[in-house]
Amino acid sequence: MNKVGVFGSINTDFVSTTGKKLPREGETIQGNSFSTQFGGKGANKAVALARLGAGVVMFGAVGDDEFSKRCLANLEKEKVCTKFVKKVRGQMGGIANIFSSDKTNMIVVAPGANLDADIAYIDKIEKEIKTCDLIVADLEVPQASVVYLSEVCKKHGVKFVINPSPIMKFNKKMFDNARLVVVNEVEIKNLPGFKNEGQILKAYNGRLILTKGKEGAFIFDGEDVKRFAALKSPVVDTTGAGDTFLGGLIVSTLGGKDLEEAVKFANICAGLKISKLGAQTGMPKLSEVKKYMISH
Ligand code: RIB
Repeated sequence: MNKVGVFGSINTDFVSTTGKKLPREGETIQGNSFSTQFGGKGANKAVALARLGAGVVMFGAVGDDEFSKRCLANLEKEKVCTKFVKKVRGQMGGIANIFSSDKTNMIVVAPGANLDADIAYIDKIEKEIKTCDLIVADLEVPQASVVYLSEVCKKHGVKFVINPSPIMKFNKKMFDNARLVVVNEVEIKNLPGFKNEGQILKAYNGRLILTKGKEGAFIFDGEDVKRFAALKSPVVDTTGAGDTFLGGLIVSTLGGKDLEEAVKFANICAGLKISKLGAQTGMPKLSEVKKYMISH
């Protein structure tokens, strides 16, 4: 079994579903439902990977509040190792306020303890990082830590995958050190050297994957930019679809598939996710993905 390390955020999501539309600035709209869900771009990837059959170890930081405790218990339930997660006394875990319509979502994150996943912490977990086949990171933890982590991975020959989300002024070094970079249509515009989608996909020469929701995913195959269609599923909640895509992509590439096959597999995983509520609770298990593949 491959061992994947996930370095990223662990959040509790406060999700309001809004039906057809999202509120505009200054607007109040009537929502449909409210629930608390397990989330965080890091924890989501960890659960996606574990449900798809990878051995997963979570790196990141939580507080000592009830939400943090529940997040860790849930990760353990999902067979994600949380032994190395930093616990910060007197701090809250990350909270994400999410409005989820039947097309898309809006998210505001109060990072809390996620910002305590600092460089000193990476030094402490370096021994464990060395034992991983691959490390995947997001940017809901300090970017300086992720850049440093990419150097640590390079030093030890551990594959490094970056999902530079949320958007910010990106440090180029983490992309130079990455085996794969996965971005959406907003994040791609912030990549250093971006002129247009085709140009930057070519410049990365097969290391960059662009996901565009229902339009599907795009890669450069050495000759052309190729599109891989998204699944046509009924949308219940798009939260965590990108994280599920990354889980599928990583499991498939570590399993020896080429990038095209891996992207197709990842599209199925993400497509199955959006038909269910909750970033993590809605993620498919490997058996569900296989069942879908056999019947289609
Ligand atoms: O990628 C989706 C995640 O972004 C949500 O689960 C929320 O926690 C935010 O971090």
